[in-house]
Amino acid sequence: MKLVKHIANLGYGSRKQVEWLFREGRVTDAAGEVLYADDKVGHDFIRIDGEPLDPAPGLVLMLHKPTGYTCSTKDTGRLIYDLLPPRFRERSPVVSPVGRLDRDTSGLLLMTDDGALLHRIVSPKSKLPKVYEATLANDLRGDEAGIFASGTLMLESETMPLLPAGLEIVSPRQARLTLHEGRYHQVRRMFAAVGNHVTALHRSAIGGIALDGLEEGRWRLLDAGDLRRLFGEPA
Ligand code: URA
Repeated sequence: MKLVKHIANLGYGSRKQVEWLFREGRVTDAAGEVLYADDKVGHDFIRIDGEPLDPAPGLVLMLHKPTGYTCSTKDTGRLIYDLLPPRFRERSPVVSPVGRLDRDTSGLLLMTDDGALLHRIVSPKSKLPKVYEATLANDLRGDEAGIFASGTLMLESETMPLLPAGLEIVSPRQARLTLHEGRYHQVRRMFAAVGNHVTALHRSAIGGIALDGLEEGRWRLLDAGDLRRLFGEPA
């Protein structure tokens, strides 16, 4: 791919704007030599104003989503993209959330511009465990774990029962739920189905990846080792 297109696709500007970056001598190699738009140089060797380029296409990141942020590119309120570098919103292919968390849910959100990887993670076939910490309005009754594990629970307006899910009771109004699928508002609807109400919800893990101290509102790139852990593959 031509350098101008590659850099424009990373969100540094329109092709015209990126052509200007070249004309102004702001695009260099690692040694500071000015690059020209038709040079053939690998991503890792390019600098703009002396800074390495943003990650190449194929990026995967984890975000510790706070409550109050929407998993959308256009909404009037706070967006998850507000927590990432502004250029990430302008990239092509786009950096998309892998599944969604409700505005009022916090926790681990993966994002990627790799469509095949995104599908691999969200595919019902992958059955990657997703762990949620739910705070409840009412004390647990005690029969919820059996109902959730049964594989027969049918949510309102659905045609297929839910896959078996694991419930660990942390305290009378605190539960850890492990799901292997991702349906719309699934956790909230599951607790509603057993006569309870979720007052706070946090996702703590997906596959072998946990937030591991990543602060709320912060993000970090995942590397190949993280991805192996995500899918439970040997390191
Ligand atoms: N289940 C929900 O109800 N909400 C989420 O954000 C994620 C899972």
